[in-house]
Amino acid sequence: MKTLVIGSGGREHAIVEALSRSPQVDKIYCAPGNAGIASLAECVAIGVTDAEALADFAKKEGIDMTVVGPEAALAAGVVNTFNERGLKIFGPTREAARIESSKEYAKQVMDRYDVPTAGYKAFDNYEEALEYVKAGKIPTVIKYDGLAAGKGVVVAMSLEEADAALRDMLLDSSFGKGRVVIEDFLEGPEFSFMCVVSGDKVYPLELAQDHKRAYDGDKGPNTGGMGAYSPVPFIGEDVKERALKEIMEPVAKGLVSEGNPFTGILYGGLILTADGPKVIEFNARFGDPETEVVLPRLKSDIYALFDAALKGEDFNIEWDDDAVLGVVLASKGYPGSYAKGAVIKGLDKAEGSVYHMGTTLKDGDILTAGGRVLMVTGKGKDLEAAHASAMRSLKEIECPTLFHRSDIGKAAIKLS
Ligand code: AMP
Ligand code: GLY
Repeated sequence: MKTLVIGSGGREHAIVEALSRSPQVDKIYCAPGNAGIASLAECVAIGVTDAEALADFAKKEGIDMTVVGPEAALAAGVVNTFNERGLKIFGPTREAARIESSKEYAKQVMDRYDVPTAGYKAFDNYEEALEYVKAGKIPTVIKYDGLAAGKGVVVAMSLEEADAALRDMLLDSSFGKGRVVIEDFLEGPEFSFMCVVSGDKVYPLELAQDHKRAYDGDKGPNTGGMGAYSPVPFIGEDVKERALKEIMEPVAKGLVSEGNPFTGILYGGLILTADGPKVIEFNARFGDPETEVVLPRLKSDIYALFDAALKGEDFNIEWDDDAVLGVVLASKGYPGSYAKGAVIKGLDKAEGSVYHMGTTLKDGDILTAGGRVLMVTGKGKDLEAAHASAMRSLKEIECPTLFHRSDIGKAAIKLS
């Protein structure tokens, strides 16, 4: 089979790696890919939102299945275009992907199908939003209503912080048009529950935990994710089952009822509160960096899994018992502005998989080319062993412009 993966990050690197393990896949293309992906797939210079060019390529090369990585491709209607042209693709349509691209739509769906989540109200007027915050409790959570690469969320610990966020999102329009959702603050451990979804059929994957804040001790600004691990020992099977029955399945069924049936990966960003699991956010795609710690544990053939989902057939997913833990190396300054183009050395000395998130190849050197640059992972019989392996690999990688968190996995293991 010939496959095409759309995207250029660590998530796509992990998807490409999983596809490369499939006995039925003999050719993988990645558009546009990156320096790491290039070792497993043929990279083609097509942008992730160029739906027509991607479809033309898939048609010309006789691609058997395309897999979409990033939300930008979904929002650009890549899946809609492939569907219209009769090309097989794994991912949701633009309409179904609104569960991620519009926080307000996600909240409406959760309301309509009784899915547990934080109470909320949406605003586009700054004064009204500020009044609502003043009348409510602090901390409060302010979310920009649109795609903001994981950076449009402010957990305000004071009224001043809430005010600054509202000004930024509604008056200064930092991300584009101004609309926000203001949510009640929830407390508890967070976890990521990704499921393969096909209409009302839901195939749960193993859980992972991400680390959203930029610095150790969960300090600093929110990022796309600074490290992750799987499994998540403090979230029991009972909680996972509850999350499946009370959250993931009702939303999948709900989207069918809404006339927006979902095909692809439905990612639940969940929190285990005193009242049980609740939704923080949905994504319409694989999480990054969660994918880099979940897919290496997948024993089943991922092509067969996607194929079964596209046909709506049952599929028994098998997992490796090993744990995987990964640490993101990001450019200093991220999630704000940062420099690119620094040479990375020592990658060949890493003992586990290193997923490239933002790299490029120039004159034989691998250079930094993004905010998040690499995800260095370790695999082992448990999270301690996986952590130790990732730490050994981190020591080998040299690049003066990169930084990383040193407490990834702290909630699950004692770090030495
Ligand atoms: P999101 O992009 O919606 O996942 O939000 C980013 C991060 O903000 C989450 O991972 C949480 O740590 C935090 N957050 C978002 N919503 C809430 C909430 N209602 N209560 C507490 N923390 C939240
Ligand atoms: N790591 C969180 C996300 O992919 O949105």
